[in-house]
Amino acid sequence: MRLKVAVCFAVVMALFGLPVVARMSVSKTQRKLSLDRRVDELLSQMTIEEKVGQLNQVFYFKQFMKPEIVEPGIREGKIGSLLFVTDPAIINRFQKVAVENSRLKIPLLFGFDVIHGFRTIFPVPLAMASSWDPALVEQAQSVAASEARAVGIRWTFAPMVDIARDPRWGRIVEGAGEDPFLGARMAAAQVRGFQGQDPSSPGRLLACMKHFAGYGAGSGGRDYDSAYIADAELYNVYLPPFKAAVDAGVGSAMSAYMDLNDVPATGNAFLLRDVLRKQWGFKGFVVSDAEAVGNLVTHGFAEDKSDAAYRAFTAGVDLEMSFPGNAISNAYTSSLTKLIAEGRITKDQLDEAVRRILEAKFKLGLFDNPYVDESRVAAIHNNPEHRRLARVAAQRSAVLLRNEGNLLPLVKGDPKVSSVAVIGPLADSKRDIRGSWSFVDDIKSAVTVLEGIRAKVGSSVKVEYAPGVDIARVYQSPFVIIQGPRPAPWTETQKRAEFEKAVSLARSSDVIILVLGEHEEMSGEAASQSSIELPGQQLELLKAMSGLGKPVVLVLINGRPLDISWAASNVSAILEAWHPGSEGGNAVADILYGDATPGGKLPVTWPRSTAQIPIYYAHNITQEPEAKKTFTSRYWDIPSSPQYPFGYGLSYTTFSFSNLRATKSEMRVGESTEVMVDVENTGRRTGEEVAQLYIHQRYGSASRPVRELKGFERITLAPGQKRTIRFTLGKPELTYWSGAVKEWVQEPAVFDLWVGADATASLTTTLRVVKR
Ligand code: NOJ
Repeated sequence: MRLKVAVCFAVVMALFGLPVVARMSVSKTQRKLSLDRRVDELLSQMTIEEKVGQLNQVFYFKQFMKPEIVEPGIREGKIGSLLFVTDPAIINRFQKVAVENSRLKIPLLFGFDVIHGFRTIFPVPLAMASSWDPALVEQAQSVAASEARAVGIRWTFAPMVDIARDPRWGRIVEGAGEDPFLGARMAAAQVRGFQGQDPSSPGRLLACMKHFAGYGAGSGGRDYDSAYIADAELYNVYLPPFKAAVDAGVGSAMSAYMDLNDVPATGNAFLLRDVLRKQWGFKGFVVSDAEAVGNLVTHGFAEDKSDAAYRAFTAGVDLEMSFPGNAISNAYTSSLTKLIAEGRITKDQLDEAVRRILEAKFKLGLFDNPYVDESRVAAIHNNPEHRRLARVAAQRSAVLLRNEGNLLPLVKGDPKVSSVAVIGPLADSKRDIRGSWSFVDDIKSAVTVLEGIRAKVGSSVKVEYAPGVDIARVYQSPFVIIQGPRPAPWTETQKRAEFEKAVSLARSSDVIILVLGEHEEMSGEAASQSSIELPGQQLELLKAMSGLGKPVVLVLINGRPLDISWAASNVSAILEAWHPGSEGGNAVADILYGDATPGGKLPVTWPRSTAQIPIYYAHNITQEPEAKKTFTSRYWDIPSSPQYPFGYGLSYTTFSFSNLRATKSEMRVGESTEVMVDVENTGRRTGEEVAQLYIHQRYGSASRPVRELKGFERITLAPGQKRTIRFTLGKPELTYWSGAVKEWVQEPAVFDLWVGADATASLTTTLRVVKR
């Protein structure tokens, strides 16, 4: 029988298989040849100035710029790309100037920060990572891509894949948290979501991994601050998500702002040439972050603008992103021509960079189809499926941190509950439910927690609202220009009156739902905070509410872990919703009332207080581990353990893990084994658990972290249902970059393995890896 199958297979392969394979590779080669020919032809017609123009990308904000600021530049071929144009009519207008009125008719490439949605806002990236669900992340980014593409945007400055281990850093909200393995999975999923099989296909965008590299490690959590990262940490922690994005076919990369080991990332040839191109074989193009080229002078790295252009260009930045007419930027347009005339940059070097940009434009199909169909925008944006997915995404990203006495889920139609007080400055804030980088959605359509609860419980339950306090805190968002200013802070009299109003409303209600956290602009770019305490008087409000003897549910809306140590031991139920997006209020109500079961898990270690920062689970063991009690590396005045470990999150049901085993207890270097575990739903509701595999290499050429995540899977189990989960552990998972050997190594050693529901999992076994 087997023989028969094999013979049939061979015949089929001989008849059809090989020719198909051959035909496929021929057509791929032909496509490449014809692409090369088209690019060569164009390059041969271009003046130096026109080539330099293709390396120039400028911002355009319709809010405060006139088209005349950019149109002459487009016509003269001095601008190759624009960002922040989101109006399809303006996109078509500018594109017309490029393809009908410029000499060589080269289309413009329009880019935008499509970070977690465009018209439909999905949960912020840190929240999406909390879903531990790469398939969901991919789907969400494909929706975001289709909405942006509908207006003519062809390129997104996402995913941001910076590892962040300091929650003071505002941009922690934009990434997948602290872990390279989870970060890599999220990076690849986002690239697939944006680009699909081919970024030119309908509804897709070209993706851009950023910020290359090490931006999350800025000193003290201050944005843009210098990062000092030893090679071992760079390769093992900060680079894996970028490498995963490259392997997933990401089309472009953005250089970061900060100094990495004293060399600004935008002038860093080690990063942009050695790692990105030589080690990883990256074939796309590199764009600078905004103004980053000119800012090489500000860094004290380049002598002047011309030197900045030289250093960025020769380090490997192909395209400069800048503000038109700004004094700092436009280094390429103002200097490259002269640098070529002087022979400091060769024409071949210039052609190499221009080729990458033109290739991207050809591959995106811009030469064949430069315009966008304005009549189709509304239908794509109003697709109800997008809102449905945003709601599912928000449900799946929420993390249940505490649920004493199973206060949650609340029961719809509970005869003991006739009134609910929804309290807190974020309970009815449409602006804050969305999170940073939400620019072109219809803010009115965002659903707040108050609205979600009202819709959920219907008219039989009285739902009343009071903000209680005002989050007045000093910060200056760079985005007020787009988002508009916040209302003036409350006066002292107003503060007292509003606080009293909230207390008396809560006193006369049966259940209190308190919604606290941060304004959307408190995280994101240029939004670092020295403290992770609940801003303003929110803790006071929380204490006052908790003192009323009523059931209190705390819902957090925020972009970073916050100090909730008081709540963690005094409030029965805490749900971390993050900034959950357009459908956030509905999703929160779904979870609070049991129409959805929480299953999200923390993608970051949650500190008890600011003083514990930086705190992350994958640290090395010190000479004096805490168990020793006397000579220990701990602080004496605070505990060393976090408030909640990495990977943590509760459900409305319970799970047990058992029977952890590896198919091999011993294997050779280079081999792999399966690791299996049984997971059972031991509670009474259907729920979702994330099985997480951690490893520890006990000894080797370098010390290894106490634990490292090496596999995970989110699964749904009905009550009493049991499933065996399988992970593969082999060379990719057991290899690391050794600071001693200065190379990637897989070493013979004994490994501890754990599988469980978070980074403190106790179910363990060992694996011995011996010499090949
Ligand atoms: C600066 C930010 O650092 C970057 O992430 C963003 O893509 C650009 N501005 C463009 O908005």
